[in-house]
Amino acid sequence: MSLENHHPLTSISSSTSGFLGQNKLSIRTQNLSIPAKNSGISRCIATPTLEKNEAYKTKVSRNANMAKLQAGYLFPEVARRTEAHKLKYPNAKVISLGIGDTTEPIPEIITSAMAKRSYTLSTIKGYTGYGAEQGEKQLRSAIASTFYANLGIEANDIFVSDGAKSDISRLQVLFGSNVTMAVQDPSYPAYVDSSVIMGQTGQFQTRVEKYENIEYMKCTPENGFFPDLSTVSPTNIIFFCSPNNPTGFAASREQLTKLVQFAKDNGSIIVYDSAYALYMSDDNPRSIFEIPGAKEVAIETSSYSKYAGFTGVRLGWTVVPKELLFSDGFPVAKDFNRIVCTSFNGASNIAQAGGLACLSPDGLKAMQEVVGFYRENTNIIMETFNSLGFKVYGGKNAPYVWVHSPGQSSWDVFGEILEKTHVVTTPGSGFGPGGEGFIRVSAFGHRNDVLEACERFKQFYK
Ligand SMILES: Cc1ncc(COP(=O)(O)O)c(C=O)c1O
Repeated sequence: MSLENHHPLTSISSSTSGFLGQNKLSIRTQNLSIPAKNSGISRCIATPTLEKNEAYKTKVSRNANMAKLQAGYLFPEVARRTEAHKLKYPNAKVISLGIGDTTEPIPEIITSAMAKRSYTLSTIKGYTGYGAEQGEKQLRSAIASTFYANLGIEANDIFVSDGAKSDISRLQVLFGSNVTMAVQDPSYPAYVDSSVIMGQTGQFQTRVEKYENIEYMKCTPENGFFPDLSTVSPTNIIFFCSPNNPTGFAASREQLTKLVQFAKDNGSIIVYDSAYALYMSDDNPRSIFEIPGAKEVAIETSSYSKYAGFTGVRLGWTVVPKELLFSDGFPVAKDFNRIVCTSFNGASNIAQAGGLACLSPDGLKAMQEVVGFYRENTNIIMETFNSLGFKVYGGKNAPYVWVHSPGQSSWDVFGEILEKTHVVTTPGSGFGPGGEGFIRVSAFGHRNDVLEACERFKQFYK
């Protein structure tokens, strides 16, 4: 089971059930009891009677913040329903346009650099062990000059990582539990869940499908997917993803200028997630640091995952400008460096060699080809839903198509499409209450699968 973003709960939920299952089994087979008095015969009888709640328990109390998390995390739930569907229709060819995991091979110019680095590790001269926690100097410089040329971002502002998702959690550790935070609604689930885990939130409010103490900035067609900042309560931290997962919306220069001003007015820090910047086809900013003054209020996190098929290789980076200061004047980058050095021993040296190759002229061309391929997929999906009369958003600047099905719940639409076409999508409400009534269709897929899925959509909705 390959799940987008490998949410912590993915492994927790699957391993938990396995663990409990095993535990039950061991109780049944290992717990032997002597029969009660007067039987006359002393026999060992296996008793299957011990219930789960009689299992041995430690004295460690569960982290109350973990208990606040909602059990049905989006992607495991999608996977569960997909598995149930496959059992119901064992002969169906199920196509997944659900999770945002890449499918196309990594260009050889990149894998050959990783292979070379890997073989070098077998030589006395070429072997290296732990590297710098912040990443190799050459890669940090290449990231700075490739993605932030003329923006005043330097190599030592860049922290190379094992991916944007880990960095989101590291940033939450940096901020601690006493901050307030805002997210776009809908948004990539890791922002909210890491905030819950850190203890920044109250309980989940089932009625409104929101956690207490998180500011949900509604991003819907009504406001052009950009929040009305005049109605947003100021928070310490603002997570902002552009191009956005799941809506595919990319903020304009003017909108980002407003966001930076909003952060400045309120003394907030923006965590800007640009994991899909390479997918942009218009001239909206690729980085928050294109906005004057952003270095004093923003951090940017990004990733090789969707650029070069590195979802399995694992490589990303976070930019913490030296100009960004806490209220007491202490540089945020210094604290982040401390957290990185404490919790991380640096990205894989092989992955970093791949990351460097991506930024060579040929590597950049190869990445553009990969992105171009998925862009063609996106166009096919957009054209299909448009031709069927749906209101379709996103797609232009991101590999996600955000399809509106007003009046129907996201899970119902998801279920209907799965049942009738054997295609897996993602229900929009899983990204926050603002996603209700939408489904996200991912353009990450082999071309034949995308074409076949679109053909099935046409048959079903015609
Ligand atoms: C918006 C966004 N940020 C971050 C990530 C995680 O990226 P990484 O694979 O680098 O951890 C994803 C992955 O889907 C994403 O959609």
